[in-house]
Amino acid sequence: MPNILVIDDNVTNRETFADVLTSEGHTVLMAGSAEEGLAKLSAMAVDAVLCDLRLPNLDGLGAMELAHEKFGPIPWILITGHGNEETAVDAIKQGAFNYLTKPVDLGRLKATIESAVRMQAANRENKALRRELGYDEALDRIVGTSTAIRQLKAAIKQVARTDATVLIEGESGTGKELVADALHALSNRSGRPYLKVNAGAISHDLLESELFGHERGSFTGAIQQKKGKFEAADTGTLFLDEIGEMPLDAQVKFLRVLQDGSLHRVGGNQPIATDVRLVVATNRNLKEEVLANRFRMDLYFRLNVVNLQVPPLRDRREDIPLLAKAFLDRLNRRHHQQKEPSEGLINHLRRQDWPGNVRELENFIEKLYVMTPGKVIHPDITGALDDEPTPDAGAAPARDSTPAPRGPASADDAIRLLVGLPVDEVEKRLILATLAHFGGNKTKAARQLQIGAKTLYRKLIEYGVQTPGEVGE
Ligand SMILES: Nc1ncnc2c1ncn2[C@@H]1O[C@H](COP(=O)(O)OP(=O)(O)OP(=O)(O)O)[C@@H](O)[C@H]1O
Ligand SMILES: [Mg+2]
Repeated sequence: MPNILVIDDNVTNRETFADVLTSEGHTVLMAGSAEEGLAKLSAMAVDAVLCDLRLPNLDGLGAMELAHEKFGPIPWILITGHGNEETAVDAIKQGAFNYLTKPVDLGRLKATIESAVRMQAANRENKALRRELGYDEALDRIVGTSTAIRQLKAAIKQVARTDATVLIEGESGTGKELVADALHALSNRSGRPYLKVNAGAISHDLLESELFGHERGSFTGAIQQKKGKFEAADTGTLFLDEIGEMPLDAQVKFLRVLQDGSLHRVGGNQPIATDVRLVVATNRNLKEEVLANRFRMDLYFRLNVVNLQVPPLRDRREDIPLLAKAFLDRLNRRHHQQKEPSEGLINHLRRQDWPGNVRELENFIEKLYVMTPGKVIHPDITGALDDEPTPDAGAAPARDSTPAPRGPASADDAIRLLVGLPVDEVEKRLILATLAHFGGNKTKAARQLQIGAKTLYRKLIEYGVQTPGEVGE
């Protein structure tokens, strides 16, 4: 039965569409906002999306753009108000499957959904065929032909179809998340839920509830029962990122869940069985963490069933020209331009050590790209090299490097996701995300945020993340 997602902030419309589509034999998921819709898409394979153009924060077009970027092509049908044909035509240019104008003719709705579902089925078949031929987009997203990358891709192919827990290790920015994505995409669980939890970005006291859920009233603020990511990932894959940041007490509980094969929600006493394939990643050397008593040995052994090492970029410099080309191609597509690198640029890129690895290379190229007015990109644009990587910075361990924090595809996307929030909330999110990015190192976070360390402490106490008197680093 095809799954259709209906995104509309108007409850009556939403339910009318859902009724019609359910009576046609579809399974309908509903969301009242773009954000809610995107969350549903990340948890479930959907065959077509019916989406109102006008939504409270992020609009229907923005949602489509993000969804296509994150989840690949899903037929997207926009509902536009009367007299909005121009926007509708734009939407098609940007990749919408079709549009319907209000008041929506239910006959047309059914027909449009039918053809969208048919197209998606053809897409899937095509994808399955390509996979049979040993070709997969998820692997193609990992650019590189060095021996290290070829071996890594071969290993991904080999272990993806098993249910073995995979530990991905590699410095920051090397592409661990791409590896995790490929493991899910190439597994028999692709099309099932794929959820990500970043153990380093969630405050310690919330991590357990995020993973395992909680019962109503189990702690202050737990006003409703909530399923954890583990339960939500049932029959699919859970990617637990920055596992090295998991505090020891959470490690104990986590290990128990892995041993028992069932979990308890916080405050709950019913064991819940789940079938989840686990992929974990860290930019620390987990074995060293074990030796330093920061990571439990028993948990390490449970996680380290298959170990994939993603090598730093400086150890596979031959991939740099290909990566640079891939990033430039993407920028050219995005900006509808045709810029190309000078030979000097490629040579320059190959000489750097890239302590922030592929992410740093990507950011650097993007910066040069936007600063280059002409067609040929040279390495010596004034200003763009301000924070050029130092030649020997690669000798420093990855944790001490300071690559630019990660974020959505562009600053505009980031802002759009925040529209509707109060400034204080935005500030809080920025501060906590920056802190998490630097592995909890307050000095580095304060420096990046360009605020004083004292201000940072005060804010953290305000947020309840730090207790007064607690000694920071
Ligand atoms: N081999 C690659 N080919 C193309 N893009 C890559 C490759 N490796 C990394 N990237 C890009 O570099 C950026 C960082 O990759 P990713 O987030 O997977 O790194 P990571 O190892 O998870 O880093 P961190 O430890 O900081 O979380 C992403 O934008 C990703 O798309
Ligand atoms: Mg990562």
